[in-house]
Amino acid sequence: MFDTMTVTKAAGALIGSLLFLLLMGWAASGIYHVGSGGHGEGEEHAQAYTVPVEDAGGSEAETADAGPDFATVLASADPAAGEKIFGKCKACHKLDGGDSTGPHLNGVVGRPVASVGGFAYSDGMVAHGGDWTPEALQEFLTAPKKVVKGTKMTFAGLGKVEDRANLIAYLETQK
Ligand code: HEC
Repeated sequence: MFDTMTVTKAAGALIGSLLFLLLMGWAASGIYHVGSGGHGEGEEHAQAYTVPVEDAGGSEAETADAGPDFATVLASADPAAGEKIFGKCKACHKLDGGDSTGPHLNGVVGRPVASVGGFAYSDGMVAHGGDWTPEALQEFLTAPKKVVKGTKMTFAGLGKVEDRANLIAYLETQK
């Protein structure tokens, strides 16, 4: 009996399944929304990881800032305080033109790197080149072994920018 009833049933079944698909679609989009909500949390987690990375970037930025800042710090540096810091250098460096473990440091500010005649510099120091500008000195003194690869100066470095500035201000007075 292929009559209207059959057709109606068939159409009804078709519409029924379309409705079902539609509902499935809604349900699915609902799930996807929940899913993207979870994604958002995931992004927050990613940001939680970004914080330490930003911190690392922050300290790098601080190191980078120490560059531009240095001139300012040096401008108000205290040579008397720098003389005290020089106590850390005394074991190896003299200020009277005589060389010991290290070359004499009187007149070092502005002096070409590795230029004291008769002093046996390391290859690394010779290769470093340039002049000991206050900027070059403060960079070297921050981490000698890092800045001049292969240097034979066994000194850990001066972590504080004020210490480096005060010391360099003191060295500037030692001609
Ligand atoms: C343990 C010994 C030692 C100490 C401490 C030390 N130095 Fe040196 N320094 C050396 C030696 C050795 C050299 C030569 C390095 C080379 O040839 O690689 C040198 C090289 C240098 C140079 C390069 C000089 C040039 O003629 O090119 C400077 C600048 C310098 N030192 C500054 C300092 C300052 C400032 C301090 C203190 C904060 C200090 N040093 C502490 C042993 C030392």
